[in-house]
Amino acid sequence: MKKILIIFALLFLSAIVLVVARQPSQEQSPNQEALCLITVNGQVYNVAKLRSTHPGGDIYVCDTDMTETFNSKHGIDYGRLSQYLYTP
Ligand code: HEM
Repeated sequence: MKKILIIFALLFLSAIVLVVARQPSQEQSPNQEALCLITVNGQVYNVAKLRSTHPGGDIYVCDTDMTETFNSKHGIDYGRLSQYLYTP
């Protein structure tokens, strides 16, 4: 009877160890921020944050040159984009 109890205790402990080991890490380094890079007029911008706040909606196609899309609405006013300039 004592042996069976010890075996159950060991099984229970190993189950706890397995559950704890499978927990995904909550830590996220700042370098792992979301990226959505677009090119406008030869400059690369990260518009990841802009996707949810842009008054014109989430029109972004990451990893493409969107100069014409930008110009069609905003003309050549690139100043508003400067805060999104991508610095790797
Ligand atoms: C690559 C494409 C585009 C980029 C990077 C871009 C970026 C921006 C940025 C940075 C702002 C200022 C946001 C703020 O002040 O919080 C803005 C505003 C706005 N965008 Fe865009 N935009 C793009 C294309 C478009 C298109 C195609 C439309 C509509 C068809 C549009 C509609 C608007 C509107 C309505 C506003 C707010 C009013 C204004 O500033 O004119 N955008 N956009």
